[in-house]
Amino acid sequence: MDRLYYGGDYNPEHWSPEVHDEDLKLMAEAGVSMVTAGIFSWAQVEPRPGEFDFGWFDEVLDKLAAGGVSVCLATMTASPPPWLSHRHPEILPVRADGTRLSAGARQQFCPSSPVYREHAVRLVEQVATRYAGHPALAMWHIGNEFGCHIRACYCDASAEDFRRWLRERYGTVEALNSAWSTTFWSQRYDDWAEIEPPRVAPTFPNPAQQLDYHRFSSDASLACHRAEREVLTRVTPDVPVTTNFVGRVQKALDWHSWVQHEDVVSLDSYPDPHDPRGHVEAAFAYDLVRSAKQGKPWLLLEQAPSAVNWRTRNGPKPPGAMRLDSWQAVARGADAVLFFQWRQTAGGAEKFHSAMVPHGGRDTRTFREVRDLGRELASVPEIADSRVRADVAILHDWNSWWALELDSHPSDDLRQLDAHLAHYAPLFDANVTCDVVHPARELSGYRLVVVPNLYLMDAAVAAHLRSYVDSGGHLVVSFFSGIVDEHDRAYLGGYPAPLRDVLGLRVDEFWPLPEDGSTSIEVDGTTVPATIWSEWIEPEGATTVATFAEGPLSGRPAVTRHEFGAGVAWYLGTRPSPEAMRELFDRITAGAGAVPVLPGLPEGVQAVVRHGDADYLFLLNHGTEAVTVALPEPGTDLLADPGRSVTEVALEPYGVAVLAAANREEHR
Ligand code: GLA
Repeated sequence: MDRLYYGGDYNPEHWSPEVHDEDLKLMAEAGVSMVTAGIFSWAQVEPRPGEFDFGWFDEVLDKLAAGGVSVCLATMTASPPPWLSHRHPEILPVRADGTRLSAGARQQFCPSSPVYREHAVRLVEQVATRYAGHPALAMWHIGNEFGCHIRACYCDASAEDFRRWLRERYGTVEALNSAWSTTFWSQRYDDWAEIEPPRVAPTFPNPAQQLDYHRFSSDASLACHRAEREVLTRVTPDVPVTTNFVGRVQKALDWHSWVQHEDVVSLDSYPDPHDPRGHVEAAFAYDLVRSAKQGKPWLLLEQAPSAVNWRTRNGPKPPGAMRLDSWQAVARGADAVLFFQWRQTAGGAEKFHSAMVPHGGRDTRTFREVRDLGRELASVPEIADSRVRADVAILHDWNSWWALELDSHPSDDLRQLDAHLAHYAPLFDANVTCDVVHPARELSGYRLVVVPNLYLMDAAVAAHLRSYVDSGGHLVVSFFSGIVDEHDRAYLGGYPAPLRDVLGLRVDEFWPLPEDGSTSIEVDGTTVPATIWSEWIEPEGATTVATFAEGPLSGRPAVTRHEFGAGVAWYLGTRPSPEAMRELFDRITAGAGAVPVLPGLPEGVQAVVRHGDADYLFLLNHGTEAVTVALPEPGTDLLADPGRSVTEVALEPYGVAVLAAANREEHR
């Protein structure tokens, strides 16, 4: 990237050529440099089977090229036309209860459907060959938000594909029987043909079967993506490929396996303007998407300029909030800021979703803010391709997430994203930068590794964590981690068996709290609340840092610390309140030498650094008060006054500053 790209989804099929001309003028005014076009154009470009009509789209692309707007060109496969499901109703997805979904919305296809894939690939071949070499073509956008509406399909074609997937994974039915623990409840299979998807059953379906169905479903959507990618790579080998992941981090797709098939990673992000902490969860998703591709810049492919239409109450973004949201993404490694969508449509299900050009047109608050932000982003091309560095890694694995949230567990309150955010928030609030990485990733560069709730942990990951601590790393592990292997089979010999020696303890029994229940723990003579979980811990060398302060566990360990090899391993047997987590993490990070970007910032001010030709310090005020931030060294205020060196910065509520200073990388 040679700049921070700016723009949005462009859906020209809704508008006349005259409006397209006006679009180009407004795009120039707003500094738009990239649009993603054609996402939902299938029915327009192939109105009847095999009959293609690209003329109108050619004109649009030519205009964009003439206007200097790069196009992230969609493969147009996200919403099959009605003629396809009318002729082939078997492509429509089926729910676990057997309900076949109807056409008339979007994403109405079973990812395993050979008919859908054949038609999709045929279309991609047309699009790719037609637009290869077009001056506007900068990147390919495969499909759209795979797994957003259809997380899994349970039709007969999916069942057949699942059996193929299982054969490749296990080789023999005996191996599958062992992995799935099918001696339980007389579930032993004698032949592949007997295996079905985990459809609605009299009671809990086999958990290992459910877990494998999550894995299979992510792979089934990935197979669609890969089939399209193969065409694109053959026809336009030099054009990079992306697809947009759903954030709030989506459970359906294992991004860690998907990113191997992306040249650049993209994310859609819709924090709720009604949620004063919405930006924290957005930041978590940004850190995850950045880390998934080893810190390479990523693209914010969609966000809302103001309100969305799909929550029950859709609040607008107050003045300044959209700018703040956008800079937060850039601060955390994005090299593009795009919106859904360019022009607000008059009809259809998203007519009340905000757009860069609202129903009210150019003379609107939203367009003015859009235009100002476009100009601002265009003024700092030097930020592109700079990198975020983190002292702390939080471990995240989709396999564990899927397994954790299966039924028939000690508590239904264990939710992966809640667990992540409970550990991420204190670090975010203290401005300690985190990566969010796969557990098998190289960890030696991190001063602290946090394991919020890694229920499923294979032996290799356990060995990896042991050697990390042994060689001097600091580790935090929270409850219900290291409980099962990759087939959801409990490790025997006291929880969490693969990490007992590292943590210096044994969990004898789980004591989850009742719904909305709470307990309390005593830390350094102070009693603080805790939620979700408690448990009976037997120390085996660990020092007790906090004890349970009420009930039958009163006086027993709740938080422990253990020195192991050259490192330190902390264990949390409950979820302390946010305030208590903040204090605990201040202590843990200090011990590990994981430092805040800037210490002592006013509450609500976010600070992140991107390292490039210079160090770019981003200061973002999420608070409700105006604040002044003293800088550790003089810097150039790139947005306000790039010609002048400053030693402090004033930030209004929603205020943003980007300070450039000499690159300090070598001093770290
Ligand atoms: C998703 C989709 C877009 C649009 C937006 C609305 O991100 O990819 O097509 O529906 O949601 O928020």
